[in-house]
Amino acid sequence: MNIVVLTGAGISAESGLATFRDLGGIWSQVKLEEVATPEGFAADPERVQAFYNARRAQLREVEPNAAHHALARLEREWRKGSFLLVTQNVDDLHDRAGSQALLHMHGELRRARCLACGTDHRWEDPITAESACPGCGARGRLRPHVVWFGEMPLHMERIEAALANCDLFIAIGTSAQVWPAAGFVRMLPRRARGIEVNPERSAMASSFAEGRRGLATQEVPRLVEELLA
Ligand code: APR
Repeated sequence: MNIVVLTGAGISAESGLATFRDLGGIWSQVKLEEVATPEGFAADPERVQAFYNARRAQLREVEPNAAHHALARLEREWRKGSFLLVTQNVDDLHDRAGSQALLHMHGELRRARCLACGTDHRWEDPITAESACPGCGARGRLRPHVVWFGEMPLHMERIEAALANCDLFIAIGTSAQVWPAAGFVRMLPRRARGIEVNPERSAMASSFAEGRRGLATQEVPRLVEELLA
């Protein structure tokens, strides 16, 4: 049985990272157009850098939670087929929990991309006008390696191939309002089973055979125990 897991901001909520569209979410604090679009970056690069520098710094204050650890355990112990974790999240909590079969389709806060040479590099510190590309040395040409609205998500060929061969699709903590991730559940083969883990019904809830209506730290360890039993 080949498993594909898709996670969204909800899996990191109990670690203390804000989601985007819940009450008080990130998009109620800042204008998406100003900080998460190429146009916003062109208009005011300092504002965009400050937004992501603050979110990158916050990663030092949070830890992976039981849901992140349960998915890393499922990857390690799953013997009945393939396993792939696709995350929309740009935090590093899946990485720090030990997940390796992991694709960050919206990029990563802890990587910087060079506008001069196009390479991306691990990056822990604030990105400033003085920051130099580790690849080509160009100064002041780095942006967050995060996919903005209007840009192509990463790793889509590998994701589509995994979905086409998927038997169990588990979506955790996503409102399913941003494409293409929102449509993954509709790209599955007819034989596949879909489970949604979310205290609320997402926009795609009706496309899932099953809804586990609870918090990720409660429902994901329980689901992993069931799968590994
Ligand atoms: N456990 C499980 N799910 C939770 C929890 C929790 N503890 N807390 C909140 N949720 C659910 C909410 O019910 C909601 O459905 O997580 C979901 C969060 O939805 P969004 O804030 O829209 O986050 P996400 O779906 O990841 O957004 C997708 O939008 O802005 C872009 O690039 C950004 O990757 C992001 C994309």
